[in-house]
Amino acid sequence: MTAPQPVNSDLNDRIPLYGEDFTAEPEHVYSQLRARGPIVPVRLAPDVPAMLVVDYETALQVLRSPHVFVKDSRRWQDTAPPDSPVLPMMSWRPNTLFADGERHARLRPPVENSLALVKPAQLRRFVQSSSIELIRRFTGRGHADLLGEFAAQLPMLVLQQMFGCPAEIAQDMVAAIAALWDGTDPQLANQYLEASVTDLVRYKRARPGDDVTTRMLEHPHGLDDDEMLHQLIITMGAGAEPLGNWIANALYLLLTERRVADAVATGSVALDEALDQVLWQFTPLTNYAITYPRHPVYLGRVLLPADEPVVISMAAINTDPALQPAGQVPTGNRAHLAFSAGPHTCPASRPARLIATVALETLLDYVPEVELDDQQPLRWRPGPFHRALTALPVRFPAVSSLADPTSGGSECPHRSAR
Ligand code: HEM
Repeated sequence: MTAPQPVNSDLNDRIPLYGEDFTAEPEHVYSQLRARGPIVPVRLAPDVPAMLVVDYETALQVLRSPHVFVKDSRRWQDTAPPDSPVLPMMSWRPNTLFADGERHARLRPPVENSLALVKPAQLRRFVQSSSIELIRRFTGRGHADLLGEFAAQLPMLVLQQMFGCPAEIAQDMVAAIAALWDGTDPQLANQYLEASVTDLVRYKRARPGDDVTTRMLEHPHGLDDDEMLHQLIITMGAGAEPLGNWIANALYLLLTERRVADAVATGSVALDEALDQVLWQFTPLTNYAITYPRHPVYLGRVLLPADEPVVISMAAINTDPALQPAGQVPTGNRAHLAFSAGPHTCPASRPARLIATVALETLLDYVPEVELDDQQPLRWRPGPFHRALTALPVRFPAVSSLADPTSGGSECPHRSAR
């Protein structure tokens, strides 16, 4: 029997999940990490040690033991460097993502049940009309950045409709979120965001409708205004970024891997199966589902220190050759961990999948002969948590005008050719 392994406390010996090497070739780092065992000491940022789980079974063990591995990050936060770049993604907030036990049992159902009631046909219409609105802004030009001009913008447009958010409030919300990303004055941007979401709660209390916000307000758990505010912010906030990157990474895969594009074009692989291939290969939320052991605890043979973040590497696990033989397009295999597992598993995987599928269908219908603009090199954004391009420049034959998407006629110029 092998002796338990103490955790390496020397920060410099830990593999960093940041820096140029990691950003450019994370797969290489994940393979090094997997070679070291199921749970490996890493650095999330220069002064932020964490334990990274890179093995499927170990990840499930952590995610399904919420009494041992808690989501409340406050004890860790008290010791974290105050200016650390990982704080915005890890700081505790009064929402379902950071809640444990009874509090989680109170906050999650209003979110989960309300998302589950989204009607597919209605959602499909929202996605089609929002996609066309974005596509028509660039089809006349013959070139576009499909990340900045399409994938990154679409989720928020669709979420606003799902949440019954009127245009004037949506505008304030988008401006506040953009200011948060710019990072110039995050406190002020946060105040604006909270003000716009509070406006939405007031508006929906006065004018209920067939939307997620109304269903959350009417949920038997009776969330108060403050609880509503924080659950709405996490639900819209947690959704937009990974969803946009899922769509962009899918376009990247289709534009760079001919066998996948051909399989989709000939119908041997459905678009939504290709979307799973993206989750196996380029999952948008890479290292997250973070928990904190309340006490020192053994996980396998490794003694985990109390309060040190335990991070699930969905990316290292999903790209493990033991799970996923290279060079195949798997059909129907959704056993990946892209949406996590256990009590905090993503409550929106179904609507997110529908949004991504319809967005890609619509884009490929309107801009079928699209190819990468190879004059502009592709770059990935830095950071331990996501797999996200900085831009996705493409070229295609320009189309002078698109029919009005609201006209209800045969709006797509290419459908008849199929
Ligand atoms: C419509 C889009 C989406 C919405 C509204 C949404 C919403 C949420 C919410 C509210 C949570 C917290 C649940 C809880 O703690 O009980 C969550 C968790 C999560 N979501 Fe999503 N999400 C969306 C899209 C995505 C996508 C595209 C991915 C990745 C492919 C993703 C991956 C995850 C993961 C891994 C978690 C668990 C995080 C953790 O435990 O720390 N989500 N999502």
